[in-house]
Amino acid sequence: MRKIIKNGTIVTASDTYFGDILIDDGIIVMIGVDLDDEGAEIVDASGCYVFPGGIDPHTHLDMPFGGTVTVDDFESGTIAAAFGGTTTVIDFCLTSKGAPLKSAVETWHRKSAGKAVIDYSFHLMVSEVTDEVLAELPQIIEEEGITSFKVFMAYKNVLQADDGTLYKTLLVAKEQGALVMVHAENGDVIDFLVRKALEEGNTDPIYHALTRPAVLEGEATGRAADLTALADSQLYVVHVTCAEAVWKIAEARKKGLRVFGETCPQYLTLDQTDLERPDFEGAKYVWSPPLREKRNQDVLWNALRNGELQTVGSDQCSFNFKGQKDLGLGDFSKIPNGGPMIEDRFTILFSEGVQKGRLSLNKFVDVVSTTNAKLFGLFPQKGTIAIGSDADIVIFDPSVERTLSVDSHHMKVDYSAFEGMKVTGEPVTVLVRGEFVVRDGLFVGRPGYGQYLHRRRFGEADKPAVKKLPIGGAY
Ligand code: URP
Ligand code: ZN
Ligand code: ZN
Ligand code: ZN
Repeated sequence: MRKIIKNGTIVTASDTYFGDILIDDGIIVMIGVDLDDEGAEIVDASGCYVFPGGIDPHTHLDMPFGGTVTVDDFESGTIAAAFGGTTTVIDFCLTSKGAPLKSAVETWHRKSAGKAVIDYSFHLMVSEVTDEVLAELPQIIEEEGITSFKVFMAYKNVLQADDGTLYKTLLVAKEQGALVMVHAENGDVIDFLVRKALEEGNTDPIYHALTRPAVLEGEATGRAADLTALADSQLYVVHVTCAEAVWKIAEARKKGLRVFGETCPQYLTLDQTDLERPDFEGAKYVWSPPLREKRNQDVLWNALRNGELQTVGSDQCSFNFKGQKDLGLGDFSKIPNGGPMIEDRFTILFSEGVQKGRLSLNKFVDVVSTTNAKLFGLFPQKGTIAIGSDADIVIFDPSVERTLSVDSHHMKVDYSAFEGMKVTGEPVTVLVRGEFVVRDGLFVGRPGYGQYLHRRRFGEADKPAVKKLPIGGAY
């Protein structure tokens, strides 16, 4: 059924204007003033912003990690994402050494199929570059549309890959048109510092932060950027937390390198002192890289505003406080790393960014949606409001004042990292491919509605939207 979204303020990464949007068959087919179409359902957006759906390029749903599995899966995680204004997630498909990549991708398809309520895609973790992997990667790109690879420079003896693997991955990515993502921290030195802390009897959550200093994130970021230059390839640094890493990315970009950086809402709003909360509550804030000293927040906001960082992901990776985080009672290194962020990413960026004058409305759309779509081969099908794009739309009421809390969020996890934070603005109605997933604050979606997205290769974002429109017809 056709729909017209009426009377809203449409905001894209480049424009802000009053207008109506006509949707047919899941696609935006017309944008104009006072649109009329007999039989179309009218959706009133008076007083609201009409944003392109958020694209979260960094989630870990239903992921085994730290001896347990994340609480939120592709069902609860994508429902929470939708309530938060996110209409596409790109999740990390983990692989194991020696096993075919294809089997890992199949595992991720099994986790997500029939569950996701919004659209989704996968990045593929690369932990070794063997002849088998080299043979399989082009096939994965072609058949699965997976055009981004993730290399971990940390989590020694678990996920960490060596520099040779990173370099070889950068070379394949250059050749095949893929984007290499890195978790940039020096895992070897961190491993040493963690053992030393535990030997000295330092077991509390705060030592998670103290054993992963910012300089080790800056060092790894610079190393990855240098290897990218040597390979003449492209790099995306996930979850940037500190000045030391921002400087390395800015320096690489000044040299003209294709190096990009993502930060997350938690690093923009929380800080290292949260790990000192009493009664082991600091464990709720244990993820990697760790929360930093507060002074880094201004550096991150400035970097988003001036383009040194380009995107905001959530790094959703939720573990319950009771029964999961407490695996690390008496040993901070056993606290499962990760936090629940998928639902609040969009609103926190609006509230702390736009409302507090740190980001323009258009920059906000750019960092939560548009550039994410461009870098990961989804634009312009996703990431904007334009004729021919999917009707992934968030009707956002900027006048609502609310308090973030576990009592009102839709994730399954038993705490909120942003408990008590006052925010302005709420995604009230969310459409994915023209269908309501959230309507006036109520979930009306369906597990299994979300479609798996095959993505374009790196650098192929400039082609027109994929769907052909009827020409000379009713529109
Ligand atoms: O602590 C975190 N961030 N957990 C998820 C895995 C990762 O490093 O992104
Ligand atoms: Zn496929
Ligand atoms: Zn990471
Ligand atoms: Zn992550």
